[in-house]
Amino acid sequence: MSFKVAIVGATGNVGREMLNILEERGFPVSEVVALASRRSQGTEVSFGDRTLKVKALDQYDFSDTDICIMSAGGNVSKEWSPKIGKQGCVVIDNSSAFRYDQDVPLIVPEVNPDAISLFTRKNIIANPNCSTAQLVVALKPLHDVATIKRVVVATYQSVSGAGKEGMDELFTQTRAVFVADTVDVKKFTKRIAFNVIPHIDVFLDDGFTKEEWKMVAETKKMLDPKIKLTATCVRVPVFIGHSEAVNIEFEKPITADEARDILRDAPGCQVLDKREDGGYITPLESAGEDATFISRIREDSTIDNGLSMWIVSDNLRKGAALNAVQIAELLVERGLIQPKKKAA
Ligand SMILES: NC(=O)c1ccc[n+]([C@@H]2O[C@H](COP(=O)([O-])OP(=O)(O)OC[C@H]3O[C@@H](n4cnc5c(N)ncnc54)[C@H](OP(=O)(O)O)[C@@H]3O)[C@@H](O)[C@H]2O)c1
Repeated sequence: MSFKVAIVGATGNVGREMLNILEERGFPVSEVVALASRRSQGTEVSFGDRTLKVKALDQYDFSDTDICIMSAGGNVSKEWSPKIGKQGCVVIDNSSAFRYDQDVPLIVPEVNPDAISLFTRKNIIANPNCSTAQLVVALKPLHDVATIKRVVVATYQSVSGAGKEGMDELFTQTRAVFVADTVDVKKFTKRIAFNVIPHIDVFLDDGFTKEEWKMVAETKKMLDPKIKLTATCVRVPVFIGHSEAVNIEFEKPITADEARDILRDAPGCQVLDKREDGGYITPLESAGEDATFISRIREDSTIDNGLSMWIVSDNLRKGAALNAVQIAELLVERGLIQPKKKAA
């Protein structure tokens, strides 16, 4: 059994990673179609040792496509995902357009796989925000054992989370600083080279940013609506890999040693935690990896049943492309999707 898969946003950071991961994991494809805007029509992207010519989304007919993985931003998704879903093609969407829709499941396969069955309501499945995905992978196994009451998180998010323009801006500004050229600020609100910016997405009335609100809403939707979470989201001059400093208050007692053992056995998690120089993960080492890495696990004696930890993952993989491909695998494993065209 194999499936015709379309990747919308195939020329972008997440889309390219999507093509790599489909290939690496041997997802059963009969055909892969690369789609983007008309700007990129005719350009080429790699899929394993093959080269795919990019087609324009608005000229493509989805009627014989089985799965469409969207990573072209919220506006494109709002316009196209419902139309594609109505053509009987299951949409796995990376944008925030449908994440909070009650009729659309928001899925991290290690966390809430059973919620996927809801997808038939709209034929759309949402992928969470990159910072939330890695957070819930680490929180879920601890919540199952000791019940989380409250989480305080500060993120250190790489520029690739802002698309290929974000990566270009860090590169261009860094070079400009070194050659004493003018530093232009276009994509971010302030200079990102040799700086950090405590602002991601738009400001809301209460002073939090939309990125911070997303972490709250998505953790509640996927893990437990009773969990209280507060976040500060910060952009840092790192190309790939989001890091998070996380403080967790549990209902029941849990030691650092117990948490380490639980996380060592948990799906998608890798513990790298030695109390010595370099005995922890940094975003540079997480780039290109699938795992959510957990380091610096320690008890916080300032609250009852408190733990602090450092969580790092490749935002383009677990934060986006890998999670989307895992959702497609879950559809296949559970027999929730059949190819439209039977193999000859
Ligand atoms: N980066 C992350 O860490 C991350 C994590 C989770 C979710 N996401 C989400 O994934 C999506 C893509 O992110 P990205 O980082 O890959 O951005 P990106 O590098 O800027 O790529 C954007 C892609 O969207 C395509 N696109 C733009 N407008 C289009 C249109 N009108 N019709 C068809 N295609 C269009 C672009 O094609 P052209 O080349 O033709 O312009 C490009 O392929 C966003 O929704 C983002 O929120 C990103």
